[in-house]
Formats: sequence, C-alpha cells, structure tokens
Amino acid sequence: MTIIDQIHAHRSIRKYKPDPIPDDLLQNILEAGIRASSSGNMQTYSIIVTRDKSLREQLHKAHFEQDMVLEAPLLLTFCADFHRMRHWLRISNAPDNFDNFMSFMIAAIDAVLVSQNVALAAESVGLGICYLGSTFSNCDQVGKILDLPENVVPVVGFTLGYPAEQPELRDRLPLDGLVHHDKYQDYNDGRIAEIYRQREVKGWERYMSYPRLRKLIIDSGVENLAQVYTEVKYSRSSHQEFTRKVLKYLKDQDFMN
Ligand SMILES: Cc1cc2nc3c(=O)[nH]c(=O)nc-3n(C[C@H](O)[C@H](O)[C@H](O)COP(=O)(O)O)c2cc1C
Repeated sequence: MTIIDQIHAHRSIRKYKPDPIPDDLLQNILEAGIRASSSGNMQTYSIIVTRDKSLREQLHKAHFEQDMVLEAPLLLTFCADFHRMRHWLRISNAPDNFDNFMSFMIAAIDAVLVSQNVALAAESVGLGICYLGSTFSNCDQVGKILDLPENVVPVVGFTLGYPAEQPELRDRLPLDGLVHHDKYQDYNDGRIAEIYRQREVKGWERYMSYPRLRKLIIDSGVENLAQVYTEVKYSRSSHQEFTRKVLKYLKDQDFMN
C-alpha cells in the first residue's frame, strides 16, 4: 500500500483486541512520529503512553466513560509542553518568553502534528486509533491524573491497539467544498446545501443507528443533522462551560500572562 492508499483506508477504531503492542513496534512508531515538523524545531510537546490499568480506569471517567479507553492496550496523550523548554532556558541563563497564549498555541500545534504522524505510522503497521476529544475538553482532569506540571496541557489523545472491528469508511465533505483556489470564495445558501447534501443523509443515519443518540434525538424533537450538532451534541451551554474550564486550566498552567 502507498501512503496515500493507507490514508484513504483510515477509519477510527473503537473496538480492540486485547493483544499488547510489542515495545519495539511502539518505539518505531513513536520514532517516526517525532519526525513531524515543529515550530523552530523546539518540539514543545510530550507524549504520554499509558498502559497502567488503574490509571486507564481513572482516565475512563475523564473521557466520558468511553469503553475503548479500557479496552485498547494503550492510551496516548499528546501534550503542549513548554515545561521542558523553559527549564532548559533557565539553566542556560536565557530569557523566558513562553508563559503566554501564543506559546500555548505553538506547543498545541506541535502536539497535534506529532499526534497525526504517530497515528499514520501506527496505521501503517496494522494498528488502529481513535481520537478522544475529552483530552482537551476535560484537560484539567486528564492533567491531574497524569501528574502534568505547569506549562503542560493535554491537547489530543487517542486509543491505540489492534482493531477488533472494520467499520465502514465515513463520508467526507466534497473536496471542492473545502478547497479555495487563490482566495477564499465565500458560499451562498445553494452552495452550502450542495456541500452538506450527502452529509445530512449519512450523518443522520449514523446518529440514529445508536440507540442512546437516537433516543436523545427523538426526545429533543430535532429535525435535521445541523440541529443534532448544536442542540444535542455540542450545545451552547456545554461549549461555554468547557471554554471557561479550558481557559482557567491554561491560566493555572501559566500560559495566560
Ligand atoms: C480531535 C478529535 C476528537 C475526537 N473525539 C472522539 C471521541 O471522543 N470519541 C469518538 O468515538 N471519536 C472521536 N473522534 C473521532 C471522530 O468521530 C472521527 O474521526 C470522525 O467521525 C470521522 O470518522 P473516521 O475517523 O472513522 O473517518 C475524534 C476525532 C478528533 C479529530
């Protein structure tokens, strides 16, 4: 398989075999992962590989009790990390300018890039992954469980293991709805309807196929996929609450000066 074929075959894996991942294979994947570009080659991220069962039980709660956190042999948490770099600056008698939001974003971008490199490396050897959005939305809980010091913030994470399922490929919005040539071409109503036409059908079918979501959708009386997104899945109040929580954590972690 070429790299492009492999990327096209990606699907998130939520069911795993119990088989452990050999240490040398994990090492290879991580070595490939850290070849990702990083801002100034500072590599302002840390990767936390969690195997320990009792830690994964604690993380299970922080990750909204998604069972793949318990079932997959490994959980990887990619953190924005200026702690290490700032320590190096200190012992090198260099000024420290990295206690602000700009620095958090630089480190977060580094962390996301390395995570996707690790994900692709893992998939290239037959492993499966599924990202966990709760890594960031519950960053305070995840940070506490993983003993993260100041200037370290969990940004993305995923389960890793041998797939015990082969789900169907999920649809994507059409490429020409996502790519702009030369300059941004804004959308009119008709174009938006066209871009989301297939998604409205596929996404609705998918969410209605999960008994828990189906009940939530029916009980809330929503009529289309767009309403599912903002009335059921990502409500204004929950997003505001997560925003407050994340901003407080960034301040506590010394990134908001
Ligand atoms: C940042 C991020 C967070 C995600 N969080 C979750 C999650 O908490 N639970 C889950 O089952 N899938 C999660 N996913 C996986 C997405 O649902 C999935 O990538 C998307 O539906 C497309 O499906 P595919 O990856 O199989 O192509 C997340 C993906 C990303 C990029």
